[in-house]
Amino acid sequence: MHRLISLRRMRKIYPAIPKRSLGMKQHLNEYYKIIYETTNLNMFSPTAEQVLENKQLDGKTCLITGASSGLGLEAARCLAASGCRVLAASRNTYKGLNATRDLGSGDLIQVMELNLASLKSVNNFSEELIRNGNQLDMVLLNAGVFGVPWARTEDGVETIFQVNFLGQLQLLLGVERLLAPAARVVFVTSESHRRVNWSPRDQICPREDMLSLPEHEYTSIKAYNISKLCSFLAMQYLAHRWRGSGRGVFCAHPGTFVKTQLCRHWWVYEALYTAMKPFAKTIPQAAATPVYCATSDALAGKSTLYYKDCARRAESDLAQDSQLAFRVIDLCRSMLSDRVGQAIDNPAVRPETAEVRDKQEDEGLAAVS
Ligand SMILES: NC(=O)c1ccc[n+]([C@@H]2O[C@H](COP(=O)([O-])OP(=O)(O)OC[C@H]3O[C@@H](n4cnc5c(N)ncnc54)[C@H](OP(=O)(O)O)[C@@H]3O)[C@@H](O)[C@H]2O)c1
Repeated sequence: MHRLISLRRMRKIYPAIPKRSLGMKQHLNEYYKIIYETTNLNMFSPTAEQVLENKQLDGKTCLITGASSGLGLEAARCLAASGCRVLAASRNTYKGLNATRDLGSGDLIQVMELNLASLKSVNNFSEELIRNGNQLDMVLLNAGVFGVPWARTEDGVETIFQVNFLGQLQLLLGVERLLAPAARVVFVTSESHRRVNWSPRDQICPREDMLSLPEHEYTSIKAYNISKLCSFLAMQYLAHRWRGSGRGVFCAHPGTFVKTQLCRHWWVYEALYTAMKPFAKTIPQAAATPVYCATSDALAGKSTLYYKDCARRAESDLAQDSQLAFRVIDLCRSMLSDRVGQAIDNPAVRPETAEVRDKQEDEGLAAVS
């Protein structure tokens, strides 16, 4: 029996168990906190379909990352059922095509290949969108990964951080020029962003290894929480970048312990999510808040807000710190420019300063008159 539950033995079979500081007691404490919060969930919360009831989205286009399963697939189904054209970005197009084939939305859903663990794939994807001249009314940055063993991507970045955040930031900057004047960008994030503890010194001078964790500091929960905090920081940054443009940027927490494929990488998470299923939101309910943020008329003209259960919530203090946001996103941009160079320095994706906008407007007026 002792041999069966020996950690060393389990680690051999499931390398996702962090080598150092597993701190089982600490992890159990974390789980206890999450379970406590989860049981407060409103199990009668609306579904994405109910959020979109009587909504006509004909002529609109929504880009969704991670649309081959879970919340992304459900959001794609509901948006397409309301007449919206959906660009379903999927790491595995075969899986994406299979998943969307039976949704019965005709050709409103277009599956496109995007592997966020490869910045080259992200750039190819953005270039294809730009070539096709798609205008984007909504962007749901939903793709995510959790519970995987430590690994670096081909770009030399820790995998969870790149897939959940850095790759999606690169994607957004790459397709920025395609955003409609009143476009909405929604980061599908998580309440777990609250569990990031950066020291004041780290906050003043963030480093790459605080974001892309080295192996000896890695646990998948820690990497996941950091990636989700960064989504909030990006929301702050983008709100400044797009001030006065009419674009809105939101963060949405879908729910906790929603039984999707997110937990598939380690049997312990799989078991935990299965055990919590009766108390957690269903996938259609979990897709509701991101879809609400992307489409609700009540949010027209608004921006930089965090939603949970389709209602406003306050994000953590760190997530609200706009100076930290600029430092961290500057660091991310330099990580990207080190790795992909000219893509991030493309003039089309530079910040639209007031001077640049005024100049463009003047030029436009001169051309018309
Ligand atoms: N489930 C929850 O309880 C929960 C709670 C809070 C927040 N969230 C967030 O909700 C979002 C959706 O998660 P989910 O629960 O629906 O999980 P899911 O079913 O695993 O969906 C995640 C999606 O992301 C895609 N993805 C993973 N790695 C990728 C990569 N390298 N490149 C491109 N796409 C990739 C997956 O594609 P493949 O199928 O090819 O892997 C899948 O389509 C995530 O951001 C997650 O963090 C979920």
